[in-house]
Amino acid sequence: GNRYTGLINKYRDHLPVSDDTRLISLGEGNTPLIKLQNIPRLIGKNVDIYVKYEGLNPTGSFKDRGMTMAVTKAVEEGSKAIICASTGNTSAAAAAYAARAGIKAFVLIPEGKIAMGKLAQAMMYGAITLQIRGNFDEGMELVKQVAAHAPVTIVNSINPYRLQGQKTAAFEIVEELGFAPDFHCLPVGNAGNITAHWMGYTEYHERGFSNSLPKMVGYQAAGSAPFMRGGPVANPETVATAIRIGNPQSWDKAWDLQKVSGGWFDELSDQEILDAQRLLAQTEGVFCEPASAASLGGALRDIKSGKIPEGSKIVCTLTGNGLKDPDTAIGQCQNAVLKTIDAELGQVRDSILQAMN
Ligand code: F0G
Repeated sequence: GNRYTGLINKYRDHLPVSDDTRLISLGEGNTPLIKLQNIPRLIGKNVDIYVKYEGLNPTGSFKDRGMTMAVTKAVEEGSKAIICASTGNTSAAAAAYAARAGIKAFVLIPEGKIAMGKLAQAMMYGAITLQIRGNFDEGMELVKQVAAHAPVTIVNSINPYRLQGQKTAAFEIVEELGFAPDFHCLPVGNAGNITAHWMGYTEYHERGFSNSLPKMVGYQAAGSAPFMRGGPVANPETVATAIRIGNPQSWDKAWDLQKVSGGWFDELSDQEILDAQRLLAQTEGVFCEPASAASLGGALRDIKSGKIPEGSKIVCTLTGNGLKDPDTAIGQCQNAVLKTIDAELGQVRDSILQAMN
């Protein structure tokens, strides 16, 4: 049959697996590329904007693409446990794929700074969840140190198989559009995903599957924007907790590819990020988490200013599902649309008439 069984099986010719490799998969990848219909009209610009909705992966983020590869290889190499530091999505993916593989997952997360859905995932999938009194960057250093002495495989994006899996998102985009976009915009934390996408686009270009390469544009949250500051940020802060990272692990590669591709880095305020998240949900029906909205928010700003010219074809990666972070969503929409009324016909009818006026 032609049942979709995940990205390793689909792209095995482009990935470091053999016919004997036992694949640890949950059917990840093959996510929708949605063309925006209302936002280009709203901003009055002639552009094609597509959003790659990675929030529809099995654990709700793009991390599943990397994790299927990392855990597949860890198991192939005989590992019985994996470990990561995480702002929440990597830990959710690690926990799920470890459960699938029947190995242990240890996850280090910053106490009080991960979205509720992500914490629920780590716990529900049965990861040994270590909340640290510290941030992601401190967790990352601890993971590197402990993995040198303990029988655990690191599955953060410094694990090379992670980026191998994640590059397949670029393959899917080129196949679906029939070309590479002019601009590809992503939110940037550790800068692993922007690096993986560039790998994917470059490989397909070299094989003659696309005629061009996109300009790669990375957006950070202003309080966590080391690429804009020219070096690590000691105490990163942002409402977009997924990208609350001050010391990106893929600094050199990301810095180079941004230059080579003709792209750039930029930053958004928390308010701009939340505005973009709400705009996308309320005008297009697509709910992403705050960090993900940085790609669209940044792209819209650059389209309005003309930095991204009219006539461009733009892909924005929506890295995670909006359901991951219900607290932030409810917190910013409450006054606008939430009303409490009596269970009474008149009040329901009045509410409808009021809203339709
Ligand atoms: N968007 C979301 C929703 C993320 O979870 C992350 C990273 C990024 C963007 C940034 O991607 O690090 O490759 O530049 N989350 C990691 C985690 C750090 O632990 O879940 P990047």
